[in-house]
Amino acid sequence: MKRLLVLAAAATALFANAQTYPGSKPVSIVVPFAAGGPTDRVARDLAEAMRKHIPGSNFVVENVNGAGGTIGATKVAKASPDGHTLLLHHIGMAAAPGLYRKLQYKPLEDFEYLGMINEVPMTLVGKPQLPANTYRDFENYIRANAGKLNIAHAGLGSASHLCGLMWQAAIKSTEAMTTIPFGGTAPAMNALVGGQVDMMCDQTTNTTGQIEAGRIKAFAVTTAKPLSSNKVLKDLPTLQEMGLKGFDLTIWHGLYAPKGTPPAVLAQLNTAMKAALKDPDFIKKQEGLGAVVVTDKRVDPAAHKTFVANEIAKLKPVIDAAKQFAD
Ligand code: MLT
Repeated sequence: MKRLLVLAAAATALFANAQTYPGSKPVSIVVPFAAGGPTDRVARDLAEAMRKHIPGSNFVVENVNGAGGTIGATKVAKASPDGHTLLLHHIGMAAAPGLYRKLQYKPLEDFEYLGMINEVPMTLVGKPQLPANTYRDFENYIRANAGKLNIAHAGLGSASHLCGLMWQAAIKSTEAMTTIPFGGTAPAMNALVGGQVDMMCDQTTNTTGQIEAGRIKAFAVTTAKPLSSNKVLKDLPTLQEMGLKGFDLTIWHGLYAPKGTPPAVLAQLNTAMKAALKDPDFIKKQEGLGAVVVTDKRVDPAAHKTFVANEIAKLKPVIDAAKQFAD
């Protein structure tokens, strides 16, 4: 009898939680990188679209940067599973386990997966003073100055860090470039525009505007196919066209909640997220910056989690080969 009463109380609490969720308390979407960067861009666009689909909701973005996104991810892994703290992260969710020896969360066990949001191409970009205007000149310059140049990124395990690793491995540079970490590629971009760093591999959501304004140089895109529908990026060659066989990298973004968040709350969030991904304004904003909004089954939690598990396995050899680990 007592067990029945306990079960009934739990069910009532769950139902009540879902009925009152989110209530007047804000829903914080933690972005594990600095404000103004690519991850932040996705989060702010998604928050605006999701607000429309959960009446009375107040989705706010909270930037918690550092250590390639692991500080923000740790915060959410340890947050109360009440649906008021979410994580918007990317490929770094799959890179961290291979890079951080003392990672304070397990990506596949400490989160509820809410679904994938988009996939964003990357661009190889350089400071305005770089003495190169084509990808071929750029790669020759990097080779001729092996060990003397630097590359900016958003911390070990960030998308920009991973792209830099993969690209340097692909061109078989004789010496690794000096890496300059930032709290995100927004501050890194400021340094690139100012000529304080030599180059970066960054998402089109952050580089398109700078390229169009002529504030940085652009040399190639990381996707298998050219971005022919994007007026700013359409003439950039792919790295495959430049001889780097099989180079194909896009940065996926997903939404996560702490493990143990009530299923009814997760279902509400996933429904609102899916509606946001179909929102014309959201799609227009994302596509204008070269991003592709996910429309396949990865918008569902189970497929999203399977995809990330596969990405962890896929990235491990890349990370092991680079021999760059952190505690
Ligand atoms: C990355 O390189 O992981 C992202 O560009 C970080 C960011 O959103 O600033």
